[in-house]
Amino acid sequence: MNKKILLSGVKPTGTVHIGNYFGAMKQMVDLQDKYESYIFIADYHAMTTVQNKADLKQRIINVALDYLAIGLDPQKITLFKQSDIPQVTELAWIFNCITTMPYMMRAHAFKDAEAKNKEINVGVFDYPMLMASDILIQDADIVPVGQDQKQHVEYARDTAQKFNRIFGETFRLPEPLILSHVDTVPGIDGRKMSKSYGNVIPLFATDEEIKKAVMKIPTDSKGVAEPKNPDESAIFAIHKLFIDTEKLKNLREKYQKGGMGYKEAKELLIKDLSAFIKPMREKREKLAKDLDAVFEILKDGAKKASMNADKKMKVVREKVGVEIY
Ligand code: ADP
Ligand code: TRP
Repeated sequence: MNKKILLSGVKPTGTVHIGNYFGAMKQMVDLQDKYESYIFIADYHAMTTVQNKADLKQRIINVALDYLAIGLDPQKITLFKQSDIPQVTELAWIFNCITTMPYMMRAHAFKDAEAKNKEINVGVFDYPMLMASDILIQDADIVPVGQDQKQHVEYARDTAQKFNRIFGETFRLPEPLILSHVDTVPGIDGRKMSKSYGNVIPLFATDEEIKKAVMKIPTDSKGVAEPKNPDESAIFAIHKLFIDTEKLKNLREKYQKGGMGYKEAKELLIKDLSAFIKPMREKREKLAKDLDAVFEILKDGAKKASMNADKKMKVVREKVGVEIY
């Protein structure tokens, strides 16, 4: 049986942290065997906010390195950058023409920006149509996204239905796959880990950075001998993300039994976190030394994604009536 098609876009933002990894990135890697996967760098989407050549270039490269380093395997999946598939922007125009302004004005992202009195460029307003094109041009069945992107996948679905109604059956209806079964990863101040709070542990942190971050985690005043509740400790909340069941059970007991101070708990976390991050960091460093090889991966991915897009656009052009020869 043919595998279902999975597609997801990653906006090139800043340095990734372990909250991003456990909350979103890891799932992409875990799903790569189950589906025929297309993962792309949404560079044109990033242009709604990033308007600096050097900055955008660096961010695109960073995402490619991040995802290859955590284990996206170009032998299994198609990895590409959005701007290598210009057919997507062509399709977005066609979608614009069948979409109404009031419908677009109901999009959360637009409404939020408006509520904050932000200056809104047309790209922000039209963002959902470009995303619908990303999804529909590849005939995606499944679109893994965070909760905040669910409405955008619904927009893609609505747009597919509308096109099919006007021009005849053409697009497959995509389903969102919400990546929310992972608990929110706490930051080193106990709040949600987020780059906007400055409380992150970078995913590719050096040993020194790991140590510095972990040492800042706040603790209560319980002494070494006192029993501690692991479920109330930010140290444990981070630790439990990446150790196996057996080790986790032992660690839980160590907290509960008493005899382990927070200093020791932090040292254990530093040791395990360093061991967990090291191979990914080293892989990323190695990849960064041979960017040409990374670019070849993206170009190969673009070839395949572009072939699918060409096939789809042939049908679309014919259906809307611009294909006259
Ligand atoms: P940030 O809050 O650092 O700006 P983003 O909003 O760019 O992170 O989130 C990118 C992805 O990472 C989203 O899918 C989001 O759900 C996930 N994510 C971010 N922070 C966390 C966290 N602390 N715990 C779990 N998932 C997270
Ligand atoms: N809008 C998504 C985000 O901000 C990125 C994205 C662009 C995307 N196109 C997509 C995600 C298509 C899934 C499918 O995270």
